[in-house]
Amino acid sequence: AQIRYLEELFTVDTQKLKAISDHFVSELDKGLSVEGGSIPMNPTWVMAFPDGHETGTYLALDMGGTNLRVCEITLTEQKSEFDIIQSKYRMPEELKTTNNNEELWDYIADCLYQFVETHHGDCTKVDVLPLGFTFSYPATQNYIDEGILQRWTKGFDINGVEGQNVVPMLDAALAKRGVPIRVTALINDTTGTMIASAYTDTKMKIGCIFGTGCNAAYMEEVGQIPKLAHLNLPADTPMAINCEWGAFDNEHKVLPRTSYDVAIDRDSPRPGQQAFEKMIAGLYLGEIFRLVLVDLHDNEEINIFKGQDIAILRKPYSLDSSFLSGVEEDPFENLQETYDTFAQKLNIVCKLPELELIRRLAELIGTRAARLSACGVAAIAKKKNYKSCHVGADGSVFNKYPHFKARGAQALKEILDWPEKSNPQEEDPIEVLAAEDGSGVGAALIAALTLKRVKAGN
Ligand code: BG6
Ligand code: GLC
Repeated sequence: AQIRYLEELFTVDTQKLKAISDHFVSELDKGLSVEGGSIPMNPTWVMAFPDGHETGTYLALDMGGTNLRVCEITLTEQKSEFDIIQSKYRMPEELKTTNNNEELWDYIADCLYQFVETHHGDCTKVDVLPLGFTFSYPATQNYIDEGILQRWTKGFDINGVEGQNVVPMLDAALAKRGVPIRVTALINDTTGTMIASAYTDTKMKIGCIFGTGCNAAYMEEVGQIPKLAHLNLPADTPMAINCEWGAFDNEHKVLPRTSYDVAIDRDSPRPGQQAFEKMIAGLYLGEIFRLVLVDLHDNEEINIFKGQDIAILRKPYSLDSSFLSGVEEDPFENLQETYDTFAQKLNIVCKLPELELIRRLAELIGTRAARLSACGVAAIAKKKNYKSCHVGADGSVFNKYPHFKARGAQALKEILDWPEKSNPQEEDPIEVLAAEDGSGVGAALIAALTLKRVKAGN
């Protein structure tokens, strides 16, 4: 009976998917309008797809996913080829919510300093290097090397940055540390993903991230962006739009939110924001799962894990999405691995019916995330009238969460009413594929495209 109740709660049927996608299209439009809407639809000043002949050496800094990463990318003369060296740095948890934003910029400047010293030698003797800064949060850009943070997302909450341009903040920390780097472009990970993917595949039209957060970018025409009309640019000028679709349905009009989604939002650093993202993204999947289990324990009529101490399970955000992946991937009929994980990590000894409920719950949460994600992809495709294209996707959920791709593809098929394929090997009209490295190659390409545009005087 509990399983049936959970199925009803978390299942999103075809009709609902279609209703969500339709509303999504109108919200994308609203975001481009002068009045705006809850999806920001940020113009990024990335105004061309690469042609594969970009060259040069660029640094790239990626801040906004699981890791802080620094890369050096050399785009070679060979069409669509590149060399890359990279270092990953841990993003200290405490920095994500520090009261003093200088600590964040100093830490990043230190990582860049180390990188340059390791690969180029003495920082005082190196010529200034151009940097593509992948800053994966909603940012207003009046030009490409500006990024005024609209609001922190993904659990970040650092004082004194919202409403500010982050580029001078990073520049100041670099100058203080004597690092010979200039920020050439500020990039969202979705835009980087789209550009990097289009470098090697001309069918790529949309870039998506399904990771700690969830978002997409696509190429619009300036004539379709009423909020840029005052610039008097030619109507067919391309402009990549970072949708920031995590903010979809902040008004709670269509998404089938459960009491667990409501609780996650209430207890997050930014209640009322990122309604869509909080139902889908990797940061939240484990937490939704945890909240349901705690509820089923505390509910006296159900009382799973009866008589056991669930103190560890009560700790907010103690389960991440890889915990959920593990449950979905348990290969044993008797769910032995799940049994072991619960015993070892949570000190809970599960009975078989409880294990079955846990597995089904993980499937339901993972499936809901994949199906809701597809609504965003379908909405952009509908808006742009893309009947056939590729979508480049990256992020830990897309790359590691079991069945995420297949479940998303199934939902797209339902929303867009594709007929059955005669040959299962055949591509779907819209295929979501693993992307090229957006914050490495994508950032380098965007830096190259920017320098080319500056040289041409546009
Ligand atoms: C990486 C991209 O692979 O995925 C980053 O290079 C992106 O730019 C990241 O931010 C998102 O995934 P996650 O799971 O790290 O949030
Ligand atoms: C969050 C951020 C967005 C980013 C996404 C994926 O939604 O606001 O900028 O693209 O996470 O990392």
